[in-house]
Parts: sequence; structure tokens; C-alpha cells
Amino acid sequence: MRFTRSGRTIAGDQATPLLILGEDAGVVMPSGCRMGICFGCVAPVRSGQVRDLRTNQVHGEAGELIQTCISTAATDVELEL
Ligand code: FES
Repeated sequence: MRFTRSGRTIAGDQATPLLILGEDAGVVMPSGCRMGICFGCVAPVRSGQVRDLRTNQVHGEAGELIQTCISTAATDVELEL
């Protein structure tokens, strides 16, 4: 998991939300409700795919805005944060 603007990298798993991984890596992560409601945590994907914890759907295209609080890494992921 890489955060391109802050230059931080952290080893993740496929269960921990990207919001938590970012915070653990020391990245200032936008957030709000932390449960998928407010969209305060959205961030653009640069590369890789994520899994929605609510639906289990895997998605991710360059530039797509994802909710980091309810998304986990499905592959290596780069976020523009
Ligand atoms: S923090 Fe509210 S949707 Fe992610």
C-alpha cells in the first residue's frame, strides 16, 4: 500500500480498511463517520484494486474515488494521498 503524495508505504492485508492503514503509516487521512455513510474519506486511486467491505465487490481504476473506511486492498494499491 503506497500513498503517493505523502511518500508513505505500509504493508497491508486484505482485511484492514485503507483508512486505518494510512493512519498507521502516519498519513493525514480525511475521514468522518468511518462507516461508509458520509463520503468524508474519499481518495483517488492511482493504481491497484480495492474490495468494498460491505459488498465484497472488487473495483478500482486510475482516478476512481474510493471510500477508504470501507475499502481494503485487493492488490497492491497506490492512493493519491
Ligand atoms: S468516513 Fe464516512 S464514508 Fe468513510
